[in-house]
Amino acid sequence: MKKIGIIGLGEYLPKKILTNADLEKMVDTSDEWIITRTGIKERRLAAKNEVTSDMALKAAKQALDNAGLKAADLDLIIVATITGDMPFPAVACILQNALGAKAAVCFDISAACAGFVYAIAVAQQFIARGTYKNALVVGAETLSSITDWQDRNTCVLFGDGAGAVVLSEVKSGGILSTHMGSDGSKAGLLMMPGGGSRNPASKETLEKRMHYLKMQGNEIFKLAVTIMAEAAQVALKKAGLECQDIDLVIPHQANIRIIMAMAKKLKLPKEKIYLNIEKYGNMSSASTATALCEAAKSGRIKKGDIVLLDAFGAGLVWGACVIKW
Ligand code: ACO
Repeated sequence: MKKIGIIGLGEYLPKKILTNADLEKMVDTSDEWIITRTGIKERRLAAKNEVTSDMALKAAKQALDNAGLKAADLDLIIVATITGDMPFPAVACILQNALGAKAAVCFDISAACAGFVYAIAVAQQFIARGTYKNALVVGAETLSSITDWQDRNTCVLFGDGAGAVVLSEVKSGGILSTHMGSDGSKAGLLMMPGGGSRNPASKETLEKRMHYLKMQGNEIFKLAVTIMAEAAQVALKKAGLECQDIDLVIPHQANIRIIMAMAKKLKLPKEKIYLNIEKYGNMSSASTATALCEAAKSGRIKKGDIVLLDAFGAGLVWGACVIKW
C-alpha cells in the first residue's frame, strides 16, 4: 500500500480585520458575549474585489513552493468550498487556469466545514490507486459574502480565508486513516435557502434575506461535540491508535466551547489542541486548512508526530483524518 502524505502547505488570510468592537457598532452584541460564547476576538474579511479563487490561488502558490513543485506537476485539484466565485463553474477550474496547471483534473467539494477533510480523503484515494500523482487540495471561503450582517446570531461567527496542501506519495509517515460521515436528516439546521433550484433568486428571496446563511446554532452545538469526538475515535481506531497517541488535534474552529467539550470527551489536554479561532473565527473549509498550515509552519507539528484533523459542518457532514508527520 502506497504511503500518501502532505508535502507542501500554504495559507492566505485577507488583510482586513473586523474586531468584536467593530461588530458592537453593527448589531446588538458585545465583545464579552462573543469571546465567552465563541472564543472569537476578530476575523478577516476579503477585500471588495477579492473572491474565493483569489484567496485559493495565494494559498495554492505557497503550498506548491513549499512542496517544491510546479503547477504543471499537478494532475488533480480539489477545492472544498461553499462560497465559490459563482454557483458554477467550479473554483478548482478557475484556480487551474490562474495557476496554469493544465494537466490537472479539477472539481469542487461541497461539504461545508468538513470540506477540507473530505477533499483530503478523496485525493488520497486517487493517489493510492495510482490514478493521479500530485494533488492540490484547497479549503477556501468568502463566508462574508453569505453572512447576514444584520443577524447577530450568525454575523459574529464567520470569516474569510484559504489554506492549501499538496498531497503525494511519501517515503515515511503520511495519512494513516480517514473517516467521513453524513446525516442529511439534519440538513435544515444550517443552510443558505435562496439561490438554488428550490428558491431561485427573486424579489421575494431578496426581501426574505434568503441568500444569507441561516443556522440553528444551539442545536448544532450539541451534535457537534458528540460527532467530533466519535469521528476522532473511529479514525484513530482505523489507524490502530488510541487518543493518548495523538500529538496535536487540528479541530474545525467553529466554537471554542465545542472544541474544549470534544477534547474533554477524548480526555485530551488543551496543549494538544491547535486553535486559531481567536484570530479568524469560523472559516468553514478554510479553518482546518489554515490551522494545519500554521501549526506545521510554526513548529507545533514535528517529524513523527501524530496529527488528527477533525471537522463537522452543514449537511450535516463530518470527517476525521489521522496523519503521521
Ligand atoms: N450577541 C449577544 N447575544 C446574542 C448573540 C450575539 N452575537 N447571538 C445570540 N445572542 C443571544 C440569543 O438571542 C439568546 O438570547 P435569549 O436567551 O434572550 O433568546 C442568547 O444569546 C443565547 O443564544 P444561543 O443561540 O442559545 O447561544 P449559544 O450559547 O448556543 O451560542 C452559538 C450561539 C455561538 C451560535 C453556538 O450555538 C454555536 O457555536 N453553535 C455551533 C455553530 C456551528 O458550529 N456551526 C457549524 C459549522 S458552520 C458551517 O458549516 C458553515
